[in-house]
Amino acid sequence: MQGKALPGFRDFYPEDLSLRNHIFATWRSVAGRYGFEEYDGPPLEALDLYTKKSGDEIVQQLYSFRDKGDREVALRPEMTPTLARMVAARVQALRKPIRWFSIPQLFRYERQQRGRLREHFQLNMDIIGEAGPLADAELMAAAVDIMRAFGLGPGDVQLRISDRRVIKSLLLGRGVTEAQLGTAFAVIDRSERVPKNALEEMLRESGVGSRESEAVFDVAGLRGVDALKAAGEVAEPLTQAVDALKEMGLGEFVSVDMTIVRGLAYYTGIVFELFDAQKKLRAIAGGGRYDGLLDQPALGFGMGDVVLGELLKERDVAPKASIELGAFLIAVGGDDLPTVLQLAHALRERGIAVEYGLRQAGVRKQLELASARGAARAVIVGPEERSAGLAVVRDLRTSTEAKVPLRQLLNGYFD
Ligand code: HAM
Repeated sequence: MQGKALPGFRDFYPEDLSLRNHIFATWRSVAGRYGFEEYDGPPLEALDLYTKKSGDEIVQQLYSFRDKGDREVALRPEMTPTLARMVAARVQALRKPIRWFSIPQLFRYERQQRGRLREHFQLNMDIIGEAGPLADAELMAAAVDIMRAFGLGPGDVQLRISDRRVIKSLLLGRGVTEAQLGTAFAVIDRSERVPKNALEEMLRESGVGSRESEAVFDVAGLRGVDALKAAGEVAEPLTQAVDALKEMGLGEFVSVDMTIVRGLAYYTGIVFELFDAQKKLRAIAGGGRYDGLLDQPALGFGMGDVVLGELLKERDVAPKASIELGAFLIAVGGDDLPTVLQLAHALRERGIAVEYGLRQAGVRKQLELASARGAARAVIVGPEERSAGLAVVRDLRTSTEAKVPLRQLLNGYFD
């Protein structure tokens, strides 16, 4: 038997799964509050869905192979191409704007590092069929509200926003050519992670002159709407989206920051990423507008469970246990077992989580087990009390005890 999961793949022990479930439940709850409907697609797709739609970086990371029917297939590395395919197939029938979310598991053959694995779960929220900046603001607000629902504030996370149209116009206005834009965007995308001289080399290799090269770094350094205006950009949709977020009371979470361009090829407008405020971790979420992927306006974001999970643990806002036992039932002797079984079943019927020892053991041993299982209280059924129609309820946190009629325990005492 192999000792370990594959590199970059996770085993979810109960405490890990309880965090994952907490993350999924919060995602679902906020997406629901925003009126998004859940969908899903297949984890395996035709390879060309990604080679046509995703852009180089992701294509290089694909888990792809030829299946037994000689088809070129790939495990999904992202959800957006599947969403585009599904929407395109029913575009006439679907009422616009479409507001859909999904929580797919995704696979990318990445170099494993902190916050980057070879599989992750990713909340995707997308709006299709709306060109106005209020749609951008809506999605960004949802991403921020998810953070708030986890108990994180503007001191914990920041949403960094920019607009590819603005960056493009700034670059073209400073002598970068259309043909060089791709490299310039890639350089800006990496400007916080890769040393400047390596990036200058990248620009030089694409034929970008030294003055234009400096301009690329200047553009990446622009912060705030006023700086954009001073640089000669109107940045209308971006400003409107930021204003809408302020109206919603989320202004403190937001900063306009031209370093954000996003790695994926298909983005065309406002783009954004959510980071921990200290920028110690990788991006928690990223997205933007991708009007070219479908024949209509579209925008969305992806939020992974890996960086988010790390942040929740670091800030101590992750749930502690997967189940909370309402009671641990203890039979003092073999004759007490039928009463314990009856009681266990009645309490479970009422929705209370209950456990009891699956083998005969002394009361002390069973109390230890009850504490180890994190039960709030133990119910001890012994011959003496039982003949009087009673059981002992012991609060395991305060170690206080009370004798309670069995009838009451069966009929809502713990509700
Ligand atoms: P992405 O930036 O590639 O965008 O991924 C979004 C988020 O997923 C990242 O910010 C990160 O939290 C998480 N993530 C990505 N790759 C990994 C990995 N290898 N390990 C752990 N977490 C990861 C997209 O995928 C776009 N399709 C999102 C989108 C939806 N855009 C529009 N709609």
